[in-house]
Amino acid sequence: MAYILAIESSCDDTSAAVINDFHICSNIVASQKVHEKYGGVVPEWASRAHQKNIIPVVDTAIKEAGIKKSDLSAIAFTRGPGLLGSLLVGVSFAKSFARSLDLPLIDVNHLDAHILAHFIKDTPETKVPSFPFICLLVSGGNTQLVLVRSPYDMEIIGKTIDDAAGETIDKSAKILGLPYPGGPHIDNLAKQGNKNALVFSHSNIPGYDYSFSGVKTSILYTLRDKLKENPNFLEENINDICASVQHTVVTILLKNLEKALKDYKVKDIAIAGGVSANSYLRSELINLGGKYNLNVFIPPFQYTTDNAAMVAVAGYYKFLNNDFANLELTAYTR
Ligand code: KG4
Repeated sequence: MAYILAIESSCDDTSAAVINDFHICSNIVASQKVHEKYGGVVPEWASRAHQKNIIPVVDTAIKEAGIKKSDLSAIAFTRGPGLLGSLLVGVSFAKSFARSLDLPLIDVNHLDAHILAHFIKDTPETKVPSFPFICLLVSGGNTQLVLVRSPYDMEIIGKTIDDAAGETIDKSAKILGLPYPGGPHIDNLAKQGNKNALVFSHSNIPGYDYSFSGVKTSILYTLRDKLKENPNFLEENINDICASVQHTVVTILLKNLEKALKDYKVKDIAIAGGVSANSYLRSELINLGGKYNLNVFIPPFQYTTDNAAMVAVAGYYKFLNNDFANLELTAYTR
């Protein structure tokens, strides 16, 4: 039995979690509302809010887990990628806390953590993917296809060469005048819309890499032309526009996944990251799994966005491997 405290502060959520083996004892997240009015994350505000939140969040995580600091076996933390000012708060806190308790320190890659969230055992019956599997990692800042051979061996077989899927959805939402982050709003409005109402062009690139900048431009130009014909086009067609944007992005995402799963012949596929909360992506992934008779793994909503529970699981794997960090290490942004 090993209790690990994990800290996540890579962007605009301050989170701490306690794990006991693969069982989550607590997972506290303090989200920052301050960014909403700016239409995106303001890095300096994010680091200030982390400074304010980190101690209460860690205290609550330890209390809610029903343990004492002296019960902990190690401290895990997100080292990167992310915003430097945000990461530094978590990294410095984790180092000082580990030093003061004389505990080993474990550095975790944020993207590995999103993928390893699939191994959180919320109940003894929770099913986890078998290795190797392919995970489509889709967040605000990253879009990757990852071949996961083991918790210690992950290969990025495809990635975006420009914008991330979440960024594309958020920027489209901004064009439509929806609040930040736009992803959940597009998801909701799209439920009442016709996904084939508008067709947006996009570039096809060889291999498993992605490109979303063409889609963004196509959305912008299509709406500009429609607005010339009818100044009320946005208000009158908002559901159809959202459904069409969402359909375009999801189709691009799943096309490469389908290509990869045929080439790599895996039996399990998964999604991870903030955009994996999208209801249309979830249902289309299930359809894809059905078509090829694959097991499909979709994370529970609380583990799709940034959270320390996933960092704790990734940290626990490193703990089992005696893979500890030294006190000199620093955060990395990419
Ligand atoms: O992984 P994440 O929480 O943050 C980082 O990028 O680190 O992902 C945030 C992204 C945002 O782009 C947000 O709009 C998107 O996830 N998102 C969604 C949905 N919920 C969150 N996108 C589409 N549909 C959703 N339901």
